[in-house]
Amino acid sequence: MTRHLLDIADLSAADVRHILELSVCGLDQLGTPLAANGTALGAALIFEKPSLRTRHSMELAVVQLGGHPVATKGEEIGFDLREPVEDITRILCGYHAVLAARVFEHGVLDRMAAVSTVPVVNMLSDTSHPLQALADALTMRQSLGELAGKVVAWVGDYNNVARSLGEVCALLGAHVRYACPNGFGPDEPELERLGMLGTATVRRNRRPIEAVEGAHAVHSDTWVSMGLEADAAARRRAFEGFSVTTELMQAAAPGAVFLHCLPAHRGLEVHPDVIDGPNSLVFRQGHNRMHTARGALAFVLGGGGQS
Ligand code: CP
Ligand code: NVA
Repeated sequence: MTRHLLDIADLSAADVRHILELSVCGLDQLGTPLAANGTALGAALIFEKPSLRTRHSMELAVVQLGGHPVATKGEEIGFDLREPVEDITRILCGYHAVLAARVFEHGVLDRMAAVSTVPVVNMLSDTSHPLQALADALTMRQSLGELAGKVVAWVGDYNNVARSLGEVCALLGAHVRYACPNGFGPDEPELERLGMLGTATVRRNRRPIEAVEGAHAVHSDTWVSMGLEADAAARRRAFEGFSVTTELMQAAAPGAVFLHCLPAHRGLEVHPDVIDGPNSLVFRQGHNRMHTARGALAFVLGGGGQS
C-alpha cells in the first residue's frame, strides 16, 4: 500500500516515534531508498507558496537518500489552471518515487494522494504542516526528554502549524494548551478530535497567561499566515495581547523553552528578548527540519525498516 504523509493524525504514536528514530539514525542505517541500482530516483517538490526551510531541507533530504529533487513553483504547474491536479499527479508519479507539495488548499493533496502510485507528502497546506510538527516534536524531546506528561502551550492563531503540533503532542501524550483570541482558536469539536488522539488533555484558554502557566514549552507563529496578507491589519489588532514576552515566559515552568517554526516577526507574536534569548530553540528547531524531512521521507519510502 502506498504510504502518504498528509496529516500527523493519519499516523499512529508508534509511526511518529519511528519517524523520529529514522530522523536521528545514521545515513548508513537509512540506506538509499531513493536510488535503484546506483541510479537516483526523482522526487517532485512543488511549491505554491514561498519557502526557505522546507525547500532546502527537503531537497537535501532527497539527495541524502540517494535521489534527485526537482523543485517547481506552483504557477509553473498551474494546479487546475493549466491542467487538472489528477493529470499532473498521474504524469509526475510516472517520473518520481515521491511527490511533495506545499499548497493553498489541503484538498489538492487529497486529490493527489487519491490517484498517485507513489507517496505524497504535505509540505504545508492551509490546514496542516506535518513536517514542521515532526521537527517540533524532535526539538522538544531533545530538550525536555519524553513528551508524555509535559505541558505544551501555544499562543496565537490556531493555524496549520498549531493544528499539526496539537496532533503530534496528543499522540505522544503531552498536554496541550491553546491561547487564541476569540474567533481564532480551535472549536469544541476540534478540541475533542485532538483529545481523542491521545491520553493527555487538550485545552483552550482565553488568556495567554492561563495557557503558559507551568508549561514546559511555549510555541508561537505568525498572526498572518501565507495567503492571509489582505487581513494583516485586522489580524494584528485582533492578536494584541497575544505576544510572547519575557513576562509571559516567567509564568511557564522553570527553564521552559520557546519554539517558533519561523519566519518570525519580532515585536509582534514574539518579543526579541524571548526569541533571541537563552531558552529559545528556534534555530535548532529549524535545523531539525533537515533531519525530520529525511526521517519522514525514509518512512513513506519504507527505508530503515517500517514499524
Ligand atoms: N517553517 C517553515 O515551513 O519554513 P518555510 O516556510 O521557510 O519552509
Ligand atoms: N502558519 C505559517 C507557517 C509558515 C511556515 C503559514 O502558513 O504561513
